Amino acid sequence: GLPARVRIHEVGARDGLQNEKSAVPTEVKAEFIHRLAAAGLTTIEATSFVHPKWVPQLADAEELMPRLRDLGHVALPVLVPNERGLERALALGATRIAVFGSATETFAARNLNRTVAESLAMFEPVVARAKAAADGPVHVRGYLSMCFGDPWEGPVPVDQVVRVAKALLDLGCDELSLGDTIGVATPGHVRTLLAALDQQGVTTDRIGVHFHDTYGQALSNTLAALQHGVTTVDASAGGLGGCPYAKSATGNLATEDLVWMLDGLGIETGVDLAALTATSVWMAERLGRPSPSRTVRALSPK
Ligand code: HMG
Ligand code: MG
Repeated sequence: GLPARVRIHEVGARDGLQNEKSAVPTEVKAEFIHRLAAAGLTTIEATSFVHPKWVPQLADAEELMPRLRDLGHVALPVLVPNERGLERALALGATRIAVFGSATETFAARNLNRTVAESLAMFEPVVARAKAAADGPVHVRGYLSMCFGDPWEGPVPVDQVVRVAKALLDLGCDELSLGDTIGVATPGHVRTLLAALDQQGVTTDRIGVHFHDTYGQALSNTLAALQHGVTTVDASAGGLGGCPYAKSATGNLATEDLVWMLDGLGIETGVDLAALTATSVWMAERLGRPSPSRTVRALSPK
C-alpha cells in the first residue's frame, strides 16, 4: 500500500543553489525560502556551513540565516561536515543539521577530503555535540551519497551501502537520507537496497530518499520507495541542483513533479502546487534559464 501522507524535504535552496555557476544574492535566497514556506513546505534545507572555498555559492550562510528568523514554524536544516561547521550553525540558532557521508571512497575523498572511515570519525563529535546542545538536542539527518552508482567507481555494492548506513545511524543520526547523487538508480535497485536495509534492522521510518533525475528515473524510484513504506522524500523546487563534486550529477527530483504525482495518488503533502510552480518560475527568471521540471513547464503560463 501507499502512505496517506508524505513529508517533503525541500533541498532547492541548498542542493540546487550550491551548483549555480554564479552565487545567487542572499536576499534572493531569503525570498526563495519564504516563498517555499508560503507554498506549504515545512522542511526547507536552507544552506551549508561548509568551507567557503569548497562551496562559494553558500558562503553567505551567516548572512542568510538571520533573514529566516520569522520562519519559526518551518524546519530549516543546514549541512554541517565538521565541528567548525557545527559551531557556526549553532551560533546562528540552527536546530536541525545534516552530516553527509559517502558510500564510496572516491566521493568521500573528493567531497570531504577524507576516507569513509575518517569522515565518520569527523562526524562523531558533531552528532554527539548536536545531541548535547545547550538549547536542547539538535535533530541530525545523515546523508549517504553514492548509494547506487558512483561516477568513478561504477555500480556500488549494496552491502557496502548498508555498512555505511548503519555506521551513520550508530553515530546517533535521527534519520538517514539515501542519496542517488548522480541519478543512476532504477526502481528494482531501490527495492533491493531498501530490502537489504530492512533485513539489517534499518527500518523505513528512519529513511528518506534523495533522487537526482539524470536519467529521468527519479519519480519511478520514488514510487518504488513509497511502495516499500518510505514517507520522507527529498526534492528541489523546479528541479534545481546537482553536486559540484560529482561530475554528471544533474538536478534533483523536481518538487512540482513529485507533488503532481502525489496529488494524483491522493497522498497529502500540504503543498500548494500553483504557489510552488509560481515560485520556481520566479526563481528561473532570477537564474536566467527555464526550469527543467516538466510539471513547471506544463503549468506555467506560456
Ligand atoms: P579540508 O580542506 O580537509 O579542511 O576540508 P580542514 O579540516 O583541513 O580545515 C582547513 C581549514 O578550513 C581550517 O582553517 C578550518 O578551520 C577551515 P585554518 O585552520 O587552515 O585557517 N574549515 C572551515 N571553515 C568554515 N567552515 C567549516 C570549516 N571546516 C574547516 N565548516 C571540509 C574538509 C569538510 C571542510 C571540506 O571538504 C568541505 O567543506 N566540504 C564540503 C563539500 C560540500 O559541501 N559538498 C556538497 C554537499 S554534499 C551533496 O551535495 C550530496 C547530497 O546532496 C546528497 C546526494 O545527492 O548524494 C547531500
Ligand atoms: Mg544531492
